Amino acid sequence: ATEAVRELLLARIRDVPDYPKPGVVFKDITPLLADPVAFTALTGLFADQCVRYGATKVVGLEARGFILAAPVAVRAGLGFVPVRKAGKLPGATLGQAYELEYGTAEVEIHAEDLSADDRVMVIDDVLATGGTAQASLELIRRAGAQVAGVSVLMELGFLAGRARLETALAGAPLESV
Ligand code: PRP
Repeated sequence: ATEAVRELLLARIRDVPDYPKPGVVFKDITPLLADPVAFTALTGLFADQCVRYGATKVVGLEARGFILAAPVAVRAGLGFVPVRKAGKLPGATLGQAYELEYGTAEVEIHAEDLSADDRVMVIDDVLATGGTAQASLELIRRAGAQVAGVSVLMELGFLAGRARLETALAGAPLESV
């Protein structure tokens, strides 16, 4: 991204203190989505990365990742595959549990939407602890596909998600705007 684009995107992310609980600063992307210039710039950046890394499918992570990944898939001429929170997909699923600060969560994918020929780009708004992305990369590999990379708008460096993802990435790129 050029510095001007990066500045525009940053300016359209709203910090919401003490949401959803005290001490947490929530990164709200709705101002960015509502600005057609910023939304188009961001999905264009992601689409360029899909092409650069030879992706054949785009995976979006529920829920904000869906909003970003679906237009990226269309712009790059690729299929879209959702990774959903457990219990939402109607077909035959693969599931992967992961550790949260307190407890565990689980995400699922329709394995039949990926094949051995696929190279998958994972797109989301925020990489925080990396748990969701790590579980998603495992699902993609278990579905028999390859990982092209992970692209996020924001990486919260103090939560060390990049380190948590290192093994699952296995050399694939992690891009954050
Ligand atoms: C947020 C965010 C990422 C994930 C990052 O989603 O959109 O998907 O958390 O956190 P992690 O790196 O610690 O796993 P959230 O679970 O809030 O879901 P939502 O988009 O449905 O609100």
